[in-house]
Amino acid sequence: MGDALGSSVSGAAQERFPRKLRMGMVGGGRDAFIGAVHRRAAMLDGGVELVAGAFSSTPEKSRASGLDLYVPEDRIYGSWEEMAEAESQMPEDQRLDFVSVVTPNHLHHPVSMAFIEKGFNVACDKPLCHTVEQAMEIVNGARDNDIIYAVTYNYTGYPMVKQAKAMVDAGELGEIRKVIVEYPQGWLALPADSDNKQAAWRTDPARSGIAGCIGDIGSHCENLLSYITGLELESLCAHITTFVPGRELDDDGDVLLRFTNGAKGILTTSQVSVGEENNLRIRVWGTKKALAWTQENPNYLHILSNEDPEQVYKRGNGYNVAAAAAATRLPTGHPEGYFEAFGNIYKNFTDAIRAKLAGVEADEIVRDFPGPVEGARGVAFIHKVIESGQSDVKWLPFDFQV
Ligand SMILES: NC(=O)c1ccc[n+]([C@@H]2O[C@H](COP(=O)([O-])OP(=O)(O)OC[C@H]3O[C@@H](n4cnc5c(N)ncnc54)[C@H](O)[C@@H]3O)[C@@H](O)[C@H]2O)c1
Repeated sequence: MGDALGSSVSGAAQERFPRKLRMGMVGGGRDAFIGAVHRRAAMLDGGVELVAGAFSSTPEKSRASGLDLYVPEDRIYGSWEEMAEAESQMPEDQRLDFVSVVTPNHLHHPVSMAFIEKGFNVACDKPLCHTVEQAMEIVNGARDNDIIYAVTYNYTGYPMVKQAKAMVDAGELGEIRKVIVEYPQGWLALPADSDNKQAAWRTDPARSGIAGCIGDIGSHCENLLSYITGLELESLCAHITTFVPGRELDDDGDVLLRFTNGAKGILTTSQVSVGEENNLRIRVWGTKKALAWTQENPNYLHILSNEDPEQVYKRGNGYNVAAAAAATRLPTGHPEGYFEAFGNIYKNFTDAIRAKLAGVEADEIVRDFPGPVEGARGVAFIHKVIESGQSDVKWLPFDFQV
């Protein structure tokens, strides 16, 4: 089991790098959703402090939000442009080690590029950005500037998801034949109140991008499926729907998937499935065994076969793989959940930064977090689903390459 400050780099890197990492944030002001999750996730293991930010679209709200968070007044900025400029002038011993981008989608690309070009490591939420061209600029910018860049596809941080991936990789399921990944929510079943900030930008093409539901949560499905199975998408066929009258973007979508190994899949996602909360679920069937995992009960991984009774793998037990153990903080039976899984993305991201700063190689467990290539593939997926959904030619090749 991982200890409080993590295990893997880490001994070596922390001996040579004995201080907290300095975090900056763009977005995540008062009343925001995911910014607060990022802060808690980053600080879960005690190795990070928040020292700067441009937290909101107005200077007044940014300042009020920064003061709430005990950020020094002279490092609370009125805009992200001002923050990027001022923070790049900071002396080495105060300079940010990374910046978290937790704004609505339309700002991910310009904010990421501004900080990448000034040499800052970045953690950005999904979907990575609006277009594949923007995504490739981020991929290339991060590579060319030696930036550690994470995309917070947080569901891959769960220990039992890591266990599932390891079991597929080891061939325990046999050849994968079929995958069903689903993510129904119900919170957008009616037109949203105008004061619901989260709904307002998600249903606005200028801020959300080309897609609504498919971009917001279908992207999580694509990432989870790819992470666990390693399958490569060959082509897809989608229908997408806007059920709520007057809404400009999709609020429901179903996608048939064909993979290069001959496997088939179904990805189904909705924000109008009344009564559903965050019911992300994946099932994978191989020639020997099958697996099932669900986000609302994440400490358990179900393994099925025709020969044996159902097996339930449980988080925190010695039989799990090292990557799952390193992503575990509590003994078995004490539930871990959303914050911890999000924290595992940050744990590996920040351990990779410590390794870089200490001049040591991050090991395989630390390198296991989603990066810009996964983010770019997600953007390509969103575009292809919308293209198929809007076209009479339903089956379209998926030709994403880096
Ligand atoms: N990984 C996940 O599971 C997950 C969950 C929720 C949201 N998200 C993603 O996180 C991002 C934010 O979503 P949210 O639900 O927290 O949205 P939100 O509306 O709650 O928060 C957005 C924040 O960005 C700020 N902001 C807007 N313009 C800004 C600007 N110019 N400068 C600085 N700050 C600005 C807003 O004031 C607000 O504080 C989105 O990209 C979303 O897709 C990811």
